[in-house]
Amino acid sequence: MEIIRVKNAEEGGKKAFEIIKNGMENGAKVLGLATGSTPITLYKEMTSSDMDFSNMTSVNLDEYVGLGGSDDQSYRHFMNVELFDKKPFKETFVPDGKAADLDQACQSYDQIIEEHPIDIQILGIGQNGHIGFNEPGAPFDGKTSVVDLTESTINANKRFFDKVEDVPTKAVSMGIGSILNGKKIVLMAYGESKAEAIKGMINGPVTTDMPASALQNHDDVIVIVDEAAASKL
Ligand code: GLP
Repeated sequence: MEIIRVKNAEEGGKKAFEIIKNGMENGAKVLGLATGSTPITLYKEMTSSDMDFSNMTSVNLDEYVGLGGSDDQSYRHFMNVELFDKKPFKETFVPDGKAADLDQACQSYDQIIEEHPIDIQILGIGQNGHIGFNEPGAPFDGKTSVVDLTESTINANKRFFDKVEDVPTKAVSMGIGSILNGKKIVLMAYGESKAEAIKGMINGPVTTDMPASALQNHDDVIVIVDEAAASKL
């Protein structure tokens, strides 16, 4: 793994943007995108740039079960507001958290991933080391599935909701196997609350107890961290 240390999330967003720009200049056509507060500075760089994404396809990591695009807290809504409304893409995919048949929706999403191999996968990381919504215990060869969110994740994400009871307890998430198929992976982490997960991901054993440690098995991973997130390395 290549580790890039930055002063703050703004500088991290600029670094990640340079990687995407460079990738696109070298033929990247499909971006794997993430939600959460971490990639916001990257999306700001993308939307304020003069780059054209209208030939690009995006495939997002995950969506809450029960939320649709018109729900303010859905990841589809987040992506539209933070990026796609300002910079149109050719096609954008986010799992359907409101599908009547979720298992079928997971299979369809795997088909989408297969048809659009990801050139650059953007990732954040959960405090417990989750990537996408692959919580501890998720298999490293996993495909898209419906997952139960852990208490740690529900608590970490409750800041986006009025009250903790409103946080969905399930999500549809791309699996770790599909994430590892991305040609290049760029993971960003900022702040002290991510330090333990960053340590486990980089220095710890490769174990499903620490989902992000699966990235040690990939040969093109760039980790962008601020001082606080890197403080336990
Ligand atoms: C959620 C998302 C992850 C994200 C994580 C960290 O659980 N499913 O993709 O990496 O939160 O979020 P944040 O960037 O807000 O710390």
